[in-house]
Amino acid sequence: MKLVFDNVAKKFKDTWAVEPFSAELTEGIYALLGPNGSGKTTLMRMIAHILKPTSGRILLDGKDISLLDEKYRDLLGYLPQDFGMYPHFTAERFLNYFASLKGLDKQETKEKVTEVLKLVNLEESRKKKVRTFSGGMKRRLGIAQALLNDPRIVVVDEPTAGLDPKERIRFRNLLSDISHERIVLLSTHIVSDIEYIANEIFIMEKGSLKQRSNVDGLLAEMDGKVWKVLMKQEELDSIQTHYKVGNIQRKEHEVEVRIVSDVQPFHHAKVVPPTLEDVYLYHFYEEDQENV
Ligand SMILES: Nc1ncnc2c1ncn2[C@@H]1O[C@H](COP(=O)(O)OP(=O)(O)OP(=O)(O)O)[C@@H](O)[C@H]1O
Ligand SMILES: [Mg+2]
Repeated sequence: MKLVFDNVAKKFKDTWAVEPFSAELTEGIYALLGPNGSGKTTLMRMIAHILKPTSGRILLDGKDISLLDEKYRDLLGYLPQDFGMYPHFTAERFLNYFASLKGLDKQETKEKVTEVLKLVNLEESRKKKVRTFSGGMKRRLGIAQALLNDPRIVVVDEPTAGLDPKERIRFRNLLSDISHERIVLLSTHIVSDIEYIANEIFIMEKGSLKQRSNVDGLLAEMDGKVWKVLMKQEELDSIQTHYKVGNIQRKEHEVEVRIVSDVQPFHHAKVVPPTLEDVYLYHFYEEDQENV
């Protein structure tokens, strides 16, 4: 299976939310990483065939998805970023409802609902109302919904927002489990979500694809650009305007500061191994400063 983006772009009024985007995806997990407004949701909505590209095409095994239409929908599972959950429904009723929207018959619905509830580990809560669910349980129910039609392409938009670390890990493992023989695309701005599971990461900035690589590739590019330096508390303010500053750890008399910089920031700064968080900082430090 091959999903191809051929210069896909979307313009709202006179601004490009997604600039021409080209890529080829086969089975595996792909992550869209980028700050607020970088175009992740817009791109995903085009893949989910909810939004029509202004220009370019999306092809599945060589066929334009807009021509495949119904056939494409049958292959797709989508969890939108702002997914309404019907709080008064039980988990089971919620899934039955979505199964009927997806055109499953009675027998298929029964089998599939049980199967997906098991997959997302919500079997015991099937008779409970959605309003009693934790954030993580709701997300898992959301992905259960997306998997009802046994999709080959799974698109999940910020699935881990608001989850605690335990639920986050559980969700990550779930995506990993289902990625076998499927194309899974997820968006996030939380790097730890994708560090261990994504085969490939697309870094988005202001609607364009800034970089595309696997985790090792992204880390390799940061080699020699991440520094640790001890300094006095008073010096902190002035360096924050000059450098991309990561973690600050207070020591007895000084502070230890992590700095991401192409050049050695201070003669006594030492190079340390990069993490994916440093990659994010390197690309998006200014934007996050604006959002503070
Ligand atoms: N329906 C729309 N009409 C007009 N502008 C839109 C519409 N949808 C998105 N945009 C704009 O397109 C840009 C990209 O938005 P998008 O929601 O795709 O970003 P995002 O990366 O998903 O952000 P977030 O991390 O906040 O979810 C933003 O500038 C946004 O304001
Ligand atoms: Mg979004």
